[in-house]
Amino acid sequence: MTNRPETWHYGLVAKWWSEFNQGGHEIAYFQKYVEHGQPALDVACGTGRLLIPYIRAGFDVDGCDVSSDMIALCREKMERDGLSTNLFVQPMHDLDPPRTYRTIFVCGGFGLGSTREQDIEALGRFFENLEPGGTLVLDNENPYSPGYPWRSWRKEEGDELPRPAKPLADAERRRGSDGAEYALESRLLDLDPLEQFATYEMRAGMWRNGELVQEEEHALRINFYFKNELLVLLERAGFTDIIVHGDHREEAPTRDSDFLVFVAKKR
Ligand SMILES: C[S@@+](CC[C@H](N)C(=O)[O-])C[C@H]1O[C@@H](n2cnc3c(N)ncnc32)[C@H](O)[C@@H]1O
Repeated sequence: MTNRPETWHYGLVAKWWSEFNQGGHEIAYFQKYVEHGQPALDVACGTGRLLIPYIRAGFDVDGCDVSSDMIALCREKMERDGLSTNLFVQPMHDLDPPRTYRTIFVCGGFGLGSTREQDIEALGRFFENLEPGGTLVLDNENPYSPGYPWRSWRKEEGDELPRPAKPLADAERRRGSDGAEYALESRLLDLDPLEQFATYEMRAGMWRNGELVQEEEHALRINFYFKNELLVLLERAGFTDIIVHGDHREEAPTRDSDFLVFVAKKR
């Protein structure tokens, strides 16, 4: 693995995010922390699903992401709406923002494309770049959530990987604002239960007038973290007073929670 995280959020995949990934209950959840702690930094902000509504509401929030394509599309959307903020391209393990923050939050970005060492480095960077008294709000999808291939942790199912490739032409297409049609098709290539990471492949296509005019293939590594493991890593990074919420609600998680959110303080 290179020093540059291996994510699929480029080209047509970035375009898909920008066109179709809007809204979501996470926006209101993270907003409460932004309201009470500015300036804030949206790490792995993508095309601005959370960031843009916060800027529109007048909050002082910067955004960063490893993907220059996601940042370019985020900037384009903001400019279209006459909005602006500090946007910068940086992997979270090399986070070096222009100022320190009262809140740093990460929604759907931790453990993507990176090594575990880089993830630990990223937690250290979050700590370093928070002001004393500041808060980190970091979500993580549980490895056994329905969104992840839990069965493939077992040897019998793991031996059947990689999963077969499905024709991109059969994937559901969606029409973008530019009139083109887009489709994504992903498959699990490998899952290493010892080192707790999976590798996926994503194929993306764009059609104009029914004709495939662009096709891309990307890879993504996802590191899996369990609750108690992340608690230890956060403590090791220097965080204290750590609260865990379930599924982006201000409630304790249960065994049925798919997502956990770690709210951690820098004293
Ligand atoms: C699932 S998207 C989430 C985007 C946004 N936070 C949202 O909720 O709409 C994941 C984002 O993480 C970014 N990303 C992946 N690995 C990263 C890393 N190591 N450092 C910074 N950003 C990363 C991707 O480029 C992508 O924009």
